[in-house]
Amino acid sequence: MDFKEQVVASLKQVLPTELTTEKITALLEVPKNDKMGDLAFPTFILAKSLHQSPVKIAADLAEKIDQTNFEKVQAVGPYVNFFLNKQKLGTEILRVVLQQQAEYGDQDLGHGGNVPIDMSSPNIAKPMSMGHLRSTVIGNSLAYLLTKVNYHPIKINHLGDWGTQFGKLITAYKKWGSEAEVKADPINKLLAYYVRFHQEDVDHPELDDEARAWFKRLEDGDPEAMELWKWFREVSLQTFMKVYQRLHVEFDSYNGEAFYNDKMAEIVEILEKKNLLQESQGAQIVDLSKYNLNPALIKKTDGATLYITRDLAAALYRKRTYQFVQSLYVVGNEQTNHFKQLKAVLKEMGEDWSDQVHHIPFGLITQGGHKLSTRAGRVILLEKVLDDAVELAQKQIEQKNPALKNKAQVAEQVGVGAVIFHDLKNERLNNFDFDLAEVVRFEGETGPYVQYSHARAQSILRKAKNLGVEPAIGEDISIAPDEDTWNVLKQLNDFPVAIKRAVQEYEPSVIAKYALHLAKSFNQYYAHTRVLAEDNQLASRLALVKSVAIVLQEALRLLGVAAPNEM
Ligand code: ARG
Repeated sequence: MDFKEQVVASLKQVLPTELTTEKITALLEVPKNDKMGDLAFPTFILAKSLHQSPVKIAADLAEKIDQTNFEKVQAVGPYVNFFLNKQKLGTEILRVVLQQQAEYGDQDLGHGGNVPIDMSSPNIAKPMSMGHLRSTVIGNSLAYLLTKVNYHPIKINHLGDWGTQFGKLITAYKKWGSEAEVKADPINKLLAYYVRFHQEDVDHPELDDEARAWFKRLEDGDPEAMELWKWFREVSLQTFMKVYQRLHVEFDSYNGEAFYNDKMAEIVEILEKKNLLQESQGAQIVDLSKYNLNPALIKKTDGATLYITRDLAAALYRKRTYQFVQSLYVVGNEQTNHFKQLKAVLKEMGEDWSDQVHHIPFGLITQGGHKLSTRAGRVILLEKVLDDAVELAQKQIEQKNPALKNKAQVAEQVGVGAVIFHDLKNERLNNFDFDLAEVVRFEGETGPYVQYSHARAQSILRKAKNLGVEPAIGEDISIAPDEDTWNVLKQLNDFPVAIKRAVQEYEPSVIAKYALHLAKSFNQYYAHTRVLAEDNQLASRLALVKSVAIVLQEALRLLGVAAPNEM
């Protein structure tokens, strides 16, 4: 329910037709003093055309306006002041939330259209980075949000599972590796072989020839090379899966770069047919100077195809397979140029849907203000981050609620939830610093704070149930809002708008900030209100508490964060 819209609609009926809805909306002001109402319409703009003083115009308008939807409409000087009927609106808001429950905020922006989301996409035989974590949680939240507004997301893990590095990896493994070692600790061991390869090939350049030969065998489908590649992919994926399971993220497809091996010839053909390929120092490129971009390198001198060639094939494959209405790529902003090139080449190819392709970039995670760097030893190991967060959560629960029954489970939900929430509350393009103690705090702008507010609401509802009272709202039970109550009600009312904005801006932080705001308003309300006092407002106060619980839980769900009932 848009309060502003109500005011505009009632003004529209009595104002000259040349004042459009947009104009009236733009003119409305929020009075600084709430004794002057909730919204005010200044009449100066009409003075000239009506040949009357603004004061007279305001008085006339106030007289004519249909007042039934408002507590009162009053002219004060040149302003028409609108006082919302908070009792009626508040009652209506709660009625809607309690009736729709988890479906509150659902809307149809997408008409069921398919939206592939390229997300997470780590590289085989390398550790998953914090950047991949960001991509995973942002993509996952976008998928929930898109579903909420009736799109159909398809979560695609575009694994980095092909490239010349696999020739090096196989060479290194054959020389220094062992099956048992890899089985015990796949990613770290594979990484170690790879690093050793780069150390030794300085003095032994023949290693590079061996690696090239192995990659060639791989590309030709040689059984031994294929088997090793498959195995590396499998054990790496198993390690990634552990993280995905803890984050409760699932994918619809694990078609990585290798999946497009047999789909790139068509791309090269199309580019050739359209006369878009040029030779440059032996390599094949598409000139993009008219887009102010560097040329896209389609085929290297040795004939090997490249990252962007695979992405072209993937884009085309996704269009054909899903007939998407939008195609999203949640990838760090360091790849902005790559996606600009991708879109430009698609456009040159005559694919008019290239405008539906959107790169959703995000900023870096830093530590102590520094960029993370494997070489400088500034690495953050994902699993360790999750473990540490859970341990910290466990400690806090132990202090606050030692009698809690399923402590280990709740600690997992709070610790992991804290890491996800911390990532999502920042506007995605901002860089942010990672400080674990900050992430897991129960107070302040954190996930645990929102979870804790939700659990508090649930605990009030449990107590009420034990007293034999249930939340109720409707015809004969209404809520009479004081300021704290009204703040909560306004927040509840804003949820659908926040969802819409989050989707339109591809910005889960809108929901995270919304949840923090609602939690704060609710705690303020709770601090000043005896919710369980046995008076005739008890049922309607419980309706408010229940609505808060419903909306906080749903907001957390949209972020991919659990909402324990007790903590
Ligand atoms: N594997 C790449 C990386 O780790 C990310 C892939 C993103 N997706 C894509 N379609 N290019 O940098």
